[in-house]
Amino acid sequence: MAVSTRWITTKWSLAAGILGLACLLSLAAWAEVNGSWKNGEEVYAKVCGYCHQTGIGPVIKGRKLPPEYTVHVVRNGLRAMPAFPAAFIDDKALREVAGYISKSAAEQKQEAENER
Ligand code: HEC
Repeated sequence: MAVSTRWITTKWSLAAGILGLACLLSLAAWAEVNGSWKNGEEVYAKVCGYCHQTGIGPVIKGRKLPPEYTVHVVRNGLRAMPAFPAAFIDDKALREVAGYISKSAAEQKQEAENER
């Protein structure tokens, strides 16, 4: 009798790989849609606001943050914040969003959130 012993390999590593790929692909699609930015406000609304308007990241509007500081944080990341490469936010858009943030007025809601 010919019993072919086949190793039953678990498919977990494959599943993990597919999951990781799916994440990457959705990021790529996001970047593609937003390949060119209208202005700093749009970058803030579509990227930064995702974390900084929802409490995931600290409030950054209305604090007169120096644009050079914001540019540095965005390009290099800061602890929990990921870095954004020029392929995602080009230099011009980054300058605009940094200027937009430094000049923006604080929202009333933020007063209460700032006590930390
Ligand atoms: C994925 C979430 C996320 C996104 C998107 C994001 N940030 Fe952040 N950001 C954070 C977190 C979290 C911190 C706090 C980092 C820490 O202190 O650990 C932070 C910190 C900062 C700081 C420093 C604030 C301070 O109090 O010194 C600046 C400036 C900043 N982000 C700017 C931006 C800008 C501009 C964008 C858009 C281009 C952006 N961030 C997009 C999560 C995000």
